Amino acid sequence: MTNKQMTSSETEPTDDQPAPTPGTDTLVTDSDAGERTTTDRTLLEARDLDVYYGDEQALRGVDIEIPEKQVTAVIGPSGCGKSTFLRCINRMNDLVDAARVDGELLFDGKNVYDDDVDPVALRRKIGMVFQSPNPFPKSIRDNVAYGLKVQGKDADIDETVHSALERAALLEEVEDQLDSSGLDLSGGQQQRLCIARAIAPDPDVILMDEPASALDPVATSKIEDLIEDLAEEYTVVIVTHNMQQAARISDKTAVFLTGGELVEFDDTDKIFENPEHDRVEDYITGKFG
Ligand SMILES: Nc1ncnc2c1ncn2[C@@H]1O[C@H](COP(=O)(O)OP(=O)(O)O)[C@@H](O)[C@H]1O
Ligand SMILES: [Mg+2]
Repeated sequence: MTNKQMTSSETEPTDDQPAPTPGTDTLVTDSDAGERTTTDRTLLEARDLDVYYGDEQALRGVDIEIPEKQVTAVIGPSGCGKSTFLRCINRMNDLVDAARVDGELLFDGKNVYDDDVDPVALRRKIGMVFQSPNPFPKSIRDNVAYGLKVQGKDADIDETVHSALERAALLEEVEDQLDSSGLDLSGGQQQRLCIARAIAPDPDVILMDEPASALDPVATSKIEDLIEDLAEEYTVVIVTHNMQQAARISDKTAVFLTGGELVEFDDTDKIFENPEHDRVEDYITGKFG
């Protein structure tokens, strides 16, 4: 995509967990899902990224290159800045009054903090899924179509809704009840509905902040399978406090430790089998955290 397209005049959501935002035609990329292949091309890059909440520093000089169409797990003890890092990527920290970001966060080579980037448009290309499933009190169809209706592409809506539900591994379970409330679904189904809602505007990146931590083991396992599938088409960055989950589903793992420092980032196998840093080994083996 050309990032100059990320400029429009829509208003920003104000909630801490704002709804995914509707798309515009100008933001539809030329990417063709069927032709996507896994590469080691960097899609997201942080350069000397610092985040402060008032006087408190939550991230310190983070440098990272996140590859396209792979699953990158972000792990580390509570309070080390995992959610803060995730929220930097699609400028969700803009919504936190006290937050200040220094350094660069490049998306496809373009700094998302540049003046000409519209955060609302950015969040369509970089969707987000939260810890607690947060469907709207609307029908399943309207939840998924939320980002599309305002776009005025009515003719395509049914097809896009079906396709998003299918890619979120939910279609078979809800095909006959698209007009019933999203809130009537089980927790695991609601989370897959939220994933379908994030997918519908055709993003490049899906950010997930502990997406399975409120779910039972069966629902968790479905989400984990889904995340691995999603990486065929999307770049996935997932925060998890569950190290087994990170080891199971991710290609790359970033380990943040207390103080907001990215201590190690490497192939997941390397991180879990033979990390470079003693502090990472101690964390992985459960000596703290
Ligand atoms: N909205 C906020 N206002 C002030 N401080 C915050 C806010 N969000 C997070 N923090 C602080 O930033 C640090 C990192 O938090 P967070 O990114 O939520 O960590 P994690 O997700 O790893 O648990 C913590 O010290 C936390 O208290
Ligand atoms: Mg968090």
